[in-house]
Amino acid sequence: MNITHRPRRMRQTPGVRRLVAETRLHPADLVLPMFVVEGLDEPREISSMPGVRQHSLESLIIAAREAEDAGIGAIMLFGIPQRKDAIGSGASDPEGILARGVRALTKVTHLPVIADLCLDEFTDHGHCGVLDESGRVDNDATLARYQQMALTLARAGATMLGTSGAMDGQIAACRAVLDKAGLTDTMLLAYAAKYASAFYGPFREAVDSSLAGDRRTYQQDAPNRIEALRETRLDLAEGADIVMVKPALAYLDIVREVSDMADVPVSAYVVSGEYSMIEAAAANGWISRRAAILEALTGVRRAGASIIVTYWAVEVAKWLSERPVRHSNRHDDKHCPR
Ligand code: PBG
Repeated sequence: MNITHRPRRMRQTPGVRRLVAETRLHPADLVLPMFVVEGLDEPREISSMPGVRQHSLESLIIAAREAEDAGIGAIMLFGIPQRKDAIGSGASDPEGILARGVRALTKVTHLPVIADLCLDEFTDHGHCGVLDESGRVDNDATLARYQQMALTLARAGATMLGTSGAMDGQIAACRAVLDKAGLTDTMLLAYAAKYASAFYGPFREAVDSSLAGDRRTYQQDAPNRIEALRETRLDLAEGADIVMVKPALAYLDIVREVSDMADVPVSAYVVSGEYSMIEAAAANGWISRRAAILEALTGVRRAGASIIVTYWAVEVAKWLSERPVRHSNRHDDKHCPR
């Protein structure tokens, strides 16, 4: 047998594999989504997302400190108000839960704070925008609400606003109003390719969503990729600082294509359902939890995302900071006694 090219040489020991790894995860690339609930005294477990909690303002601060110590890159904050109404008044209220949460975070951490800029947690109908007389989501009337929200959240100290509402023109609308107010440093994270997804299911519990229908008239349709590139181009032209693909795991081809075209950092959001599927399978003993999580996140990174939004951010950051185990130099197919 004369085989000159033996790719298996590159895989012979953990040390060699570590050296030739083409993709690495780093704590600074990970963004942790957090939920803060108005009027909550104690953190509350989210049953559909084992290991994730709704926070009180107090527990939010403690968890944010822990996240910063773990070395993650940023925090993304969602607020859940006590009262909801048709226009989502709480969303733009400087004393509303989201603005208060942002202020609290900026006091205790140096991490960038990404405030979610969307109405769905604040509306009694659960849609991401306001409705017209016929009950349809009114794009342009919604933009006016987003502009008010942008000012409130930027003034509360948010580093960045995550425009997750999937309205047309939302980046331009927010940029214009921020710049006019002199808030030129407030960054915009555009949910450039946001698909209407069944994988958002567990999130509905996380934010006590009141949505009855779906979001298919504003979020993108799963079969489409050219549309995602168009949406990304529009957001870039409107001034997006970072673009995002969401969900991540079911849309890795889109992550790759957006990464190839965008001249800004690309992020991808491993959403609630993608999180809970792995947690559920691991809890049943069907997959190895840590290996599956690292493999999934590595896949997102390999697809081109430089920033990963994930509910595992803190835990994974801690794993990544562990001292590497001293491996034997021997071929690890051989049994090496400890
Ligand atoms: C809506 C929003 C959603 C998520 C983030 N922002 C839900 C939706 O669009 O229906 C989902 C995140 C997740 O599932 O982890 N503004």
